[in-house]
Amino acid sequence: MRTHVLLLAAGMALTIPPVLAEDRARLAQLCATCHGPHGRSESPMYPRLDGQTPEYLQAQLKAFREQGRAEADARTHMWGIASRLDDATIQALAAYYARQAPTPGAAGAPELMDKGQAIFEKGIPGGGVPACASCHGAQAQGAGAFPRLAGQHQAYLLRQIEVFKNRSRGNSPVMSTVAHDLSYDDARAVAAYLQSR
Ligand code: HEC
Ligand code: HEC
Repeated sequence: MRTHVLLLAAGMALTIPPVLAEDRARLAQLCATCHGPHGRSESPMYPRLDGQTPEYLQAQLKAFREQGRAEADARTHMWGIASRLDDATIQALAAYYARQAPTPGAAGAPELMDKGQAIFEKGIPGGGVPACASCHGAQAQGAGAFPRLAGQHQAYLLRQIEVFKNRSRGNSPVMSTVAHDLSYDDARAVAAYLQSR
């Protein structure tokens, strides 16, 4: 992190926030090499960020920076870059991606849609799985700390359910409980449905 220090004539030191506007533009380009222009990544390795809620984006960037979100892919890809972000930069990046109009995801296997939609809207009664829509919104659009799931890559969603289940993502008690009771086949169906939204 670069710190710019101006020495005033009076001999006082004034510290300017470490990431300046032009550094932010360069940073956003760096983000785009993985997350795609405007956060519309094409590769399922990298989550889409377009139209995500600003509160959730900020919370995740801080969790990477503070190393609370700790699944293997987060450590490898996000810890380094997040360590360079101060709060103001995180706020600006989150606001930028939240402003981007979300793009619809790719259609998934037709035979998974009905099952995925049922789990999303009603959960698995008797199976301990609550309706995803009750937190993530009727359209999976997200709200505040509850992330948008609509249009997200199926493979990314499945990976997250897996790291909630094995608790390596860290500090997400709600989703660890939800994922714990979700079988692989159920997770595959609901992730395919969500990607197609
Ligand atoms: C080298 C590639 C790479 C770069 C550069 C990168 N990311 Fe990431 N990012 C990833 C990967 C991979 C994940 C998903 C980690 C996982 O699968 O567990 C991720 C996850 C995220 C998440 C969590 C998304 C969610 O839905 O939970 C946010 C937010 C994020 N990145 C923002 C950024 C921002 C902002 C930048 C630029 C400052 C950036 N990333 C730069 C690869 C990258
Ligand atoms: C009681 C509220 C609640 C319910 C019900 C719920 N979620 Fe979540 N979900 C959350 C919260 C809160 C987070 C953010 C966790 C974090 O910040 O680490 C989240 C995060 C996620 C993520 C990670 C998104 C990303 O971009 O990385 C996925 C995937 C997910 N939920 C899927 C589901 C599915 C599928 C269901 C239904 C089977 C479901 N959730 C039900 C609250 C809920």
